[in-house]
Parts: sequence; structure tokens; C-alpha cells
Amino acid sequence: MNIGIIGIGSFLPDNRITNIDLEKRMDTSDEWIRTRTGIEARHLADADLSVADMATHAAERALQSAGVSIEDIDAIICATATAPSFPATACLVQANLGAKQAVAFDVSAACSGFIFAMDTAKSMMLAKGLKRTLVIGAEKMGNLIDWDDRSTAVLFGDGAGAVVLGEDQVAAIDSIVLGSDGTGGKFLYENEEGKIVMNGREVFKFAVRKMPDIVLEALQGAGKSIDDLDVLVPHQANRRIIDAAIERLGLQEEKVVVTIQDHANTSAASIPLALAEAVKHGKISNGQTVVVAGFGAGLTWGASCLTWNNANITEEINA
Ligand code: UT7
Repeated sequence: MNIGIIGIGSFLPDNRITNIDLEKRMDTSDEWIRTRTGIEARHLADADLSVADMATHAAERALQSAGVSIEDIDAIICATATAPSFPATACLVQANLGAKQAVAFDVSAACSGFIFAMDTAKSMMLAKGLKRTLVIGAEKMGNLIDWDDRSTAVLFGDGAGAVVLGEDQVAAIDSIVLGSDGTGGKFLYENEEGKIVMNGREVFKFAVRKMPDIVLEALQGAGKSIDDLDVLVPHQANRRIIDAAIERLGLQEEKVVVTIQDHANTSAASIPLALAEAVKHGKISNGQTVVVAGFGAGLTWGASCLTWNNANITEEINA
């Protein structure tokens, strides 16, 4: 059974906050945020828009783009670090969509969560013969932002992205690599007040080291090399981390999808949101080799090599 992506969808909340808006709220500047991170704006959900709501919207769009009805979904797996821990966001999505026959649960691997969820879904499909699964990355980072800490408050945004996995692939999943190093847990965590605490420099150093390695590992796992890479969709945490990866891998900038300016860091939603954006703007063509790669709290990391078979996939973004 050859498993791949058969549909993709994404969702961003309407409420868009620019760096200039943040200047009015705290001691920061548009110039600092742009030059240190590449971020210009982020979407932050209103109080009445939950992680499950955003996940549901993205999932509906992914189902639509796959041309698959909810009755055909055997499992819903949601990667999130910002929803209440129970009930699982995936269960709320299941209820919202009426996916009665699906098994639903969440995975927790912070910003790498989407890749972990994709691997879990693929493994379950192979081991249990599930035919179609829904994989979601959804975050309301606004829930965790400490507005008294300017070094983290400016970095994050909310949103959701989803893919449907199945056999008649639009994009074949040729390899997935995952890893974690719990000794780095102290560098990025949620404190007892439920707010983000981060040692930015340590996470930055780790990310700059890890990103190129996992891109190469994912390519190698698919029997390919860096010369075969057509499109890189990296986790959107910091433009400088992406630039460092581009340089170390010797990539042309046009091959790399960058959405951080508009989305900021949306943790587990970042990769599917960026992938959806690339699809929407026709940045991926038939036959191309695409690598998605991310890292995050845990510390965790993950990457996957895809072969794109059908660039005509529709993506219902912010319809
Ligand atoms: O998804 C994975 C999670 N996270 C990441 O990948 C983040 C990785 N780390 C980073 O992206 C960067 O480390 C940051 C963007 C978080 C910080 O950039 P930096 O170049 O490492 O800055 P810094 O923390 O060394 O701070 C430099 C200066 C400090 O001032 P002094 O001590 O030099 O006077 C900070 O107080 O910038 C100051 N600063 C700010 N100034 C204006 C920190 N935050 C802000 C701010 N506005 N928002």
C-alpha cells in the first residue's frame, strides 16, 4: 500500500495583528521583530475561536480538496500543544464533523507535531489497514503567550492546517524521520502559569544545527540527494534559521517556502499551513521532490520527503 497526501486545507483566524500593533502594546519595534525574525504580522484567534474550531475548518477544507466524505475517514489525529489536554482536540473535530466511525486522538510534539502525527497515521494505515486518515496541526499560541515577555510574545501566531492521507496519492510519502532529545526540554516549555518560557539562543543554535541534517536524512531515506530537492517547506520559527539552512544546504532561495512574515510561528500548524500556501500559489509542480522539516520543544524534530504527483490539487484556503 503506497500512502500519500490526497487533500490539503488550512485556516487562519481573521484577526491579523501587525508588528506596529504590537509596538503599541509593549516595548518592541517593527524593525527589531522584522530583522531578528522575519515576522511582519500574525493571526490571533478571538476568545470564542478554539483550537478545535480552527482544526475543524482546516479539516473540512482538506476533505473538500481530497473529494472525500467524512464517512470515509478511519482516523483523526491532531497535533497540538495549545488546546486543553482533554478531551482530545481530534475528538472535538470528530464530533464537529460527525466522523462516527473514526478513531480520534491527539499527539504532542510541539512544533514538530504535524510530522509526528503524519508518521503515526501512516504507520496505523500500514499496520491496521486503515484506508483514509485526517492529520491536523492546530494551535492557539495566543493561549500561551506571556504578554509581559517581549522576547517570546512577538513570535507566535494561531492557525490550523490539515491533510487527508490515502492510497490514491497526490503526494507520495517516501520517507519520514523523527527524533527527540529530552535533555533539551528546559530550553522551551510551558510554565505552571501556562505561559511559554524559552531560551531563544539555545533553541536557535539547535535549530540551525538540526534543520539541514534532517532535510538530508529525509532525502536519503527516500533514496535521494540534495540535488533532487525541488521544494523545501521548513517550520516557520525564524527567518534567520531558514536562511541558515538554505546556506548550509546550498539551496536556491526560490526553492524554499517562507510564510513567517504573515503567519509568525504557529507551532504544529506551521508546516501544513506553509504547504497549503505553496499549493495555493502553484509553487509545487508534478514530479517534484518536496521535503517538509520541523523542530521544536521537547526538543523534537521531524522531516518527510514527498513526491508530488498531482499539482492540480485544490486547496480551500480562507474561503
Ligand atoms: O518553534 C521553535 C521555537 N522557537 C524558535 O525557534 C526560536 C529560536 N530563537 C530565536 O528565534 C531568537 O533567539 C529570538 C528571535 C527569540 C531572539 O533573537 P536573538 O537575536 O537571539 O535576540 P536576544 O534574545 O539575544 O536579544 C537581543 C536583544 C536583547 O537586548 P540586550 O540585552 O541586547 O539589550 C533583548 O532584550 O533584543 C532584546 N529583545 C527585544 N527588543 C525589542 C528581545 N526581544 C525583543 C523585542 N523587541 N520583542
